[in-house]
Amino acid sequence: MGHERIEKNINLMSILIVLVISVGGLVEILPLMTSSDATDPYPGVTPYPALQLAGRDIYIREGCYGCHSQQIRPFRSETERYGPYSVAGEFVYDRPFQFGSKRTGPDLARVGKRYSDDWHRIHLVKPQDVVPESNMPAYPWLAKATIDGELMQRKLRALQILGDPYTDEDIAGAADAVAGKTELDALVAYLQNLGTVRSAR
Ligand code: HEC
Repeated sequence: MGHERIEKNINLMSILIVLVISVGGLVEILPLMTSSDATDPYPGVTPYPALQLAGRDIYIREGCYGCHSQQIRPFRSETERYGPYSVAGEFVYDRPFQFGSKRTGPDLARVGKRYSDDWHRIHLVKPQDVVPESNMPAYPWLAKATIDGELMQRKLRALQILGDPYTDEDIAGAADAVAGKTELDALVAYLQNLGTVRSAR
């Protein structure tokens, strides 16, 4: 009887649908906002140093996430290939996180220290020079553009206001930390740190 009334009254049904989805959503989302597993940094994870933060922004600007995920799922096929599966505490300073789902290229969550800096430099400027069959695009302009130190200070300041534990010294030193560095230097610094805190390699 009640069921028939809901099925015949679209307004009532809409309200009930919104209610059910909201409760379902809250049950999933609220624990993640309060559980220390998800909100505390994994031991050893620190806010990005200025150079790596600059590299992360370049990673986002260039759309690397369109072909690369940064999340190792807890399956044997993934952990055998990439290393220990990803945990939430590794990403607490990622705003926004770069999990992604498209894997035209390999997952990069633990690519840090897997190759030398030189390998990355050659690979980013012309991937086919180190992986002949690669269909990854080349990013030669990264080697020419430099990082704006004053902008990095402002970015660190903004993250500090959002609650990331940067000290005033970190912010004061940010311009020096990126002085004379190219976008390529920054991106390589970022890649070389990815996943190293929880790496078992
Ligand atoms: C069109 C898709 C595509 C885009 C966009 C792309 N890549 Fe790739 N990437 C690949 C493919 C395919 C491979 C595997 C072949 C190779 O190593 O070049 C790869 C490999 C890599 C590797 C080596 C990973 C490993 O474990 O061997 C790194 C590091 C990497 N890419 C970084 C980047 C970065 C940084 C960007 C953005 C500047 C980027 N990629 C953009 C497709 C892409």
